[in-house]
Amino acid sequence: MVNKVTVVGAGNVGATCAHEIARMDICKEVVLIDVKEGLPAGKALDMFQTSPILNFNTRITGVTNDYAATQGSEIVVITAGVPRKPGMSRDDLISINAGIVKDVTLNIMKYNENPIIIVVSNPLDVMTYAAFLAAGIKSNRVMGMAGILDTARYTSFIAEELNTEPRLVKAQLMGGHGDTMVPLPRFTTVNGIPVTELIDEQKLDAIVERTKNGGGEIVKLMGTSAWYAPGLSAAVMVEAIAKDSKAILPVCASLNGEYGMKDLHLGVPVVLGKDGVEKVIELQLNEKEMAGLKESALHVKKVMKVLDDMNMFDAKYGDKPL
Ligand code: LAC
Repeated sequence: MVNKVTVVGAGNVGATCAHEIARMDICKEVVLIDVKEGLPAGKALDMFQTSPILNFNTRITGVTNDYAATQGSEIVVITAGVPRKPGMSRDDLISINAGIVKDVTLNIMKYNENPIIIVVSNPLDVMTYAAFLAAGIKSNRVMGMAGILDTARYTSFIAEELNTEPRLVKAQLMGGHGDTMVPLPRFTTVNGIPVTELIDEQKLDAIVERTKNGGGEIVKLMGTSAWYAPGLSAAVMVEAIAKDSKAILPVCASLNGEYGMKDLHLGVPVVLGKDGVEKVIELQLNEKEMAGLKESALHVKKVMKVLDDMNMFDAKYGDKPL
């Protein structure tokens, strides 16, 4: 249990995330903040009115641009930024979202000494890096949400293929939040049975491909990006931190030598607790898996370099080798 969680951005993802956090009864207060006049206050009021029906006690308030109201937040979720439109990749959003994420992070740091920051804005891995540079706090306190979402997409497709209960499918997925993500069939089981015993290679490959495109499939259908699963996935990270549960979850985390990589944030399994990313778990990857992870890291580095070339921060890691 913590006192206060701030969610920045009252759009679809931010509002969904705030509501899911409130429902979990893991903090006394959720503050929803946005640049739009009235929107965060209105959505917060609407959500608060679900509390007698859903039986939760979390207070939810919404404010416009008033970062003083976020003071004392132990955890901050940043969803601010523009979402994708059909035909856009997540990387296309960098020039707009980098400025937004930087501003938001600086504002948060004005009122909060040492928060844990969870970034949801895209391009995810690089926006997490941007928030880390702007926040100037320890790297294990700044992380991004992608792995829980991507894993949920992957496991839901496996459950659909097997016509079984989604909760029985457990999987690991690593790498960046994009086409180079690395789903790991070798670490995927259905109630303890390796998935490779249940689904043939060709079908599994098709599921992996669909997972990599999971966000894009939704953008194509409805013209904007997803929010139910992304908002809930970020709330699950808040829950693990607020409860100090030491949950092992795939998170976009700072690497400091793990997997032979450093100076970047990338999706890896970690232990989440009250101090943020408390440990990065190093799996023994085989050659093909490691090659996939490296390719993903190189792609993230390329986009980090684009951010570095925008000269928004003093530190630069995008042009450092892995
Ligand atoms: C998605 C966005 C949130 O994958 O990145 O749906």
